[in-house]
Amino acid sequence: MDNLVALAKRRGFIFQSSEIYGGFNGFFDYGPLGAELKKNIRDCWWADMVQRRDDVVGIETSIIMHPKVWEASGHVAGFSDPLVDCKVSKQRYRADQLFFSPVVITSADGVAQTVGYVSALESENTAGELQSAAESFKRKKAIQGTLSPVVAKDLTEAREDEIALIPSPATGEPGSLTAPRAFNMMFQTNVGAMTDGSSVAYLRPETAQGMFVDFKNVVDTGRVKLPFGIAQIGKSFRNEITPRNFIFRSREFEQMEMEYFIHEDADWSKVHEEWIAWCEAWLKSIGLPDSHLSRYAHPKEKLAFYSRGTVDIMFKYPFGVQELWGIAARGSYDLTQHANASGKPQEIFDEATKKKFVPHVIEPAVGVDRIFLAVLCAGYAEEAVTDEKGNTETRTVLRLSPRIAPVKVAVLPLLKNKEVLVARAQALYKKLQRRYAVFYDETAAIGRRYRRQDEIGTPWCVTIDFDTIEKPGDTFTLRDRDTMQQRRVTEAELFALLEEHVY
Ligand code: GAP
Repeated sequence: MDNLVALAKRRGFIFQSSEIYGGFNGFFDYGPLGAELKKNIRDCWWADMVQRRDDVVGIETSIIMHPKVWEASGHVAGFSDPLVDCKVSKQRYRADQLFFSPVVITSADGVAQTVGYVSALESENTAGELQSAAESFKRKKAIQGTLSPVVAKDLTEAREDEIALIPSPATGEPGSLTAPRAFNMMFQTNVGAMTDGSSVAYLRPETAQGMFVDFKNVVDTGRVKLPFGIAQIGKSFRNEITPRNFIFRSREFEQMEMEYFIHEDADWSKVHEEWIAWCEAWLKSIGLPDSHLSRYAHPKEKLAFYSRGTVDIMFKYPFGVQELWGIAARGSYDLTQHANASGKPQEIFDEATKKKFVPHVIEPAVGVDRIFLAVLCAGYAEEAVTDEKGNTETRTVLRLSPRIAPVKVAVLPLLKNKEVLVARAQALYKKLQRRYAVFYDETAAIGRRYRRQDEIGTPWCVTIDFDTIEKPGDTFTLRDRDTMQQRRVTEAELFALLEEHVY
């Protein structure tokens, strides 16, 4: 992960926001290559989700909406995480990410006793960390007896009397943690000249509500009939208590969400499964390997009361298997809430039964930044390569799918001081540039130029060499990033290759 973060900075994919001022926790900037890669992810999703489907339309709604939207949706009352403060260090933790265990020791005469508590922040190995902390606690206090295995619980499960005894992860001492309290994650702002309560508005914490609030507008434009989806890509904002794992959980991020409206009597579980499968196939189409993807079905007892089922597509990140894409069956909850709060019915007329009803919805919701991180993690490799002289070196390569790679082809004249090579390379470069993101490089030895392109994930390099100029056919050397194999191609073959793999 450290190497990947270093590459992201060095090659201009991702920078810390406001870096010259020391950075700003939970916010990131995308550099020249990052902006290109992110745009490609968005464009692929939009093409496949909206343009290539007859049953989905796209919209773009405002980031700041009427505050009543967030009251009706339940976000004002309930969009919160449980927050715990350490009164000494002033650190803040999400209670469900802060784990503890009693330290239980059984004496020689068989009496088991709780002698203290240990804590650890959620990690790949939370139970292991708690166990080591318990062993160290026993050693330091020189307590005789047999230590029981730890039982990890998070702070939301702690009794009030236990909280006073659980050590703060910041100080290692008990007595400074507060009881968990609900912390609303919506960013507030004021709209207009007044800054009193009447002007409070929110930056949207999800794009989804835009689709619900505009549901009737889209239906009334007459282009859709059930089942159909409304999709949107846009920024969302959440005041996360613990932004972490690079761009995985940030405070400003981008979502691609789609609300798929179905008949109230439709077989929702079938449609739900179809969308889960669609999302998995789409992730593979942009290069994520099957081996890194899995499903997590939320247990029924943990679902919101209106939810019928939620399945997350999980991705194996270097810091653990984590949620990438959530696909939720939300019933008619959102449209009903907005109908009740606005007084405007959100119904559809059923020609067959001659009755009006509120459609139900299946919602696939994913973060662009999480996909960005997943493709970097899956594509990043450091590998030993041997050149034709037998020298071995390490190359860093980013195996990005041609669909999303920020640069599709690098055009390289073999020598920069040979006018004829440069002229042919420039002509090809200009022609490719009309359709694709391409890169022209005439500096350094050819091997070095290949390595630079490997590092940023460019699928192909074309070299204009003396055979291009001197032999018939006007062919170039085409070098493949992954196999490092080279072959000769014509301009037409190069365009055909791009056409086949890029879209
Ligand atoms: N409308 C439903 C909704 O917003 P969510 O599970 O809260 O559901 C959907 O968010 C997706 O948005 C997540 O699966 C994740 O990919 C992305 N996401 C959520 N919070 C994020 C954050 N703080 N940083 C980056 N991506 C986030």
